[in-house]
Amino acid sequence: MARPTSATIHIDALRHNLARVRALAPRSKVMAVVKADGYGHGLERVTRALAGADAFGVAAFADAERIRSAGLSNRIVLLSGLDDPADLPLLRGLDVDVVVHHDSQLALLEADTAHTPLRVWLKIDTGMHRLGFPPARAAELRARLLALPQVREVVLMSHFASSDDFHGAQTPAQIAAFDAADGMPGEACSLANSAAILGWPNAHRDWVRAGGALYGLSVVAGKTGADFGLKPAMTLATRLVAINRVRRGEPIGYSATWTCPEDMDIGVAAIGYGDGYPRSVPSGTPAILRRAQGGDVRVPIVGRVSMDLLTLDLRNAPDARVGDPVVLWGPQLPAEEVAAAAGTIAYELTCSITRRVRFFEA
Ligand SMILES: Cc1ncc(COP(=O)(O)O)c(C=O)c1O
Repeated sequence: MARPTSATIHIDALRHNLARVRALAPRSKVMAVVKADGYGHGLERVTRALAGADAFGVAAFADAERIRSAGLSNRIVLLSGLDDPADLPLLRGLDVDVVVHHDSQLALLEADTAHTPLRVWLKIDTGMHRLGFPPARAAELRARLLALPQVREVVLMSHFASSDDFHGAQTPAQIAAFDAADGMPGEACSLANSAAILGWPNAHRDWVRAGGALYGLSVVAGKTGADFGLKPAMTLATRLVAINRVRRGEPIGYSATWTCPEDMDIGVAAIGYGDGYPRSVPSGTPAILRRAQGGDVRVPIVGRVSMDLLTLDLRNAPDARVGDPVVLWGPQLPAEEVAAAAGTIAYELTCSITRRVRFFEA
């Protein structure tokens, strides 16, 4: 039996979300961040749909190779930067911009003797304390890079730690640290990720770097992408493969974590953590049953999610039939809601879909 588990990618939603990002940041160029196989949506499909973006942000050369093989000539930025002298000819061969966030990378670049000049994104750590140079070094490093014949442009960039907190103090502090470091006004700079595009317009600057927003996802607590005019770009779905009548008092699934409060129908859907659906969701997390008769209805997951299957309380859905589609997230059920139940963010859900799930475009 072929597994009926599918991820349908909504190409129109990707395009709509790019237009929405442009409307939110009208004076900025847009880098579409397509790391992790386009946040799990499929790199080639996503980059073709978002070919109107000014650049793509990737985490690995392999991604840049795939984008070029797909025939796309957009600017590409290697967000992870270089870590080997052999990376330099690769950057040139693929025509890829490179992030420089550490002295070891600067040394590789300075030792480079090839003549084709590269575009460099100089990363400043304004408070996230993950990657980047101290703000006090920004002006000196930019001048040093621009003096190299092997560098033709420097974009100054930083990354926010908590731009999803629209009322917090950390983002204004990071913006202030960036502005204090930016000793050469007029040069291009880039600060904003998706949450900053949505909530911090004074961080938009020359380039915004949108990831989640392009997939219709929000990381702002309690808000879905739809709350910001974005459309979810993925529907994860499967089908009911069994409906079983279970007696009151009987336990459901591994470790017997849920007990039937009455005689009731339990639906079994062909999806589990082997497909990337999170095992950590508690009983009560919703799915949507698309009944052949009676339309869509929310049905709670009950018991543990297992590798291939999960179980559903069908008391709301007396007309359910084996074969009915079950939607785990998508336009009708925000991935953000499932992510909150699983104690994570929607990005992790879409990035975790496994290879046995069949992908479709709509
Ligand atoms: C440097 C950088 N910029 C931008 C992004 C995009 O972030 P988001 O998906 O929240 O828009 C990421 C993703 O993690 C990133 O690492």
